Amino acid sequence: MNKVLITGGTGYVGSHTAVEFIEAGFEVVIIDNLSNSKIEVLDRIEKITGVKPEFHEFDLSDNQKTADFFQKNKNFDVIIHFAAYKAVGESVQKPLMYYRNNLNSLMNILQGMKDYQIENLIFSSSCTVYGQPEKLPVTEKSPIIKANSPYGNTKQIAEEIIFDTINSTKNLKSIALRYFNPIGAHKSALIGELPLGVPNNLIPYVTQTVAGIREQLSVFGDDYNTPDGTAIRDYIHVVDLAKAHLVASERLISNKNKTNFETFNIGTGNGNSVMEIINTFEEVTGKKINYKISPRREGDIEQVWADTTYANKELGWKTELSLADALLSSWNWQKKLMS
Ligand code: UFG
Repeated sequence: MNKVLITGGTGYVGSHTAVEFIEAGFEVVIIDNLSNSKIEVLDRIEKITGVKPEFHEFDLSDNQKTADFFQKNKNFDVIIHFAAYKAVGESVQKPLMYYRNNLNSLMNILQGMKDYQIENLIFSSSCTVYGQPEKLPVTEKSPIIKANSPYGNTKQIAEEIIFDTINSTKNLKSIALRYFNPIGAHKSALIGELPLGVPNNLIPYVTQTVAGIREQLSVFGDDYNTPDGTAIRDYIHVVDLAKAHLVASERLISNKNKTNFETFNIGTGNGNSVMEIINTFEEVTGKKINYKISPRREGDIEQVWADTTYANKELGWKTELSLADALLSSWNWQKKLMS
């Protein structure tokens, strides 16, 4: 049985990934410091899969604790590293907290991989590395441009740290998956996104507004150079995203990678505007969203969506779930949270 270490495995994308790996027959070990997730997620994973993953609670940016962990636990076929802070706005306010947490944890993991000959790493990267691309859809060959936020910069620097470490370490290899906008929840509605406090992201804000927790959704800008004036993103169902980690892991484990550091765009290949999201949500749920047009949000780019040709061909992976599926599952998750 292949064994996977999932850092940040009680978080949003991590928990959905843990489910897919268990269902694919992997033994799953999770590390999380629960700074942005709840311990109950482990029971939820067990409810869905019948298996409760082994769990270690500590902070991966703690050098000693991480070294101790690897000394006792070393036989992983692959490590998937999700654990990181991810709020763009907060990162502008607290850059050192972001650099320290996101980069130290990565370096500690790479050290463990070097020390104990763990060969395969999947890294959670982001389309934020492309900034506002000149050409759309954006391919993996698009230039990496200066990050707009410390959060985005941690993703760029992390890719460089991985690249340099791989170049100096025999047998170490990695795939960075550059996520577009993950949304939705598992069909069981037992796991999903759990934002603490006021959500920053569009979909949790939408579901909380419809649920009456927030009064009104602000649509940030309707004067962009897009067909309806609102900003465009590539929204991918979190379960499809989770499955991309599975194929990427299998690629590394079976040595099918072409180079020792590969990057893939993980999106749907479709762009949708904020207004399209609102309209589709209303259609599939039959609920009305109370919204108003507000000024643009600082730091937002106008539009980005993925060219997924390379990921589709090389990974043999493509999305299976629609935007409607994703939005409906988000709403079902919100309803479950309130029940
Ligand atoms: N939006 C609104 N109102 C809201 C929230 C968002 O109109 O209340 C708009 C945004 O302006 C944007 C779109 O909805 O046009 C999507 O916004 P999100 O905050 O959901 O997502 P972003 O594209 O801004 O950010 C996401 C991740 C980041 C990551 C970034 C690029 O949340 O972590 O993609 O990778 F950095």
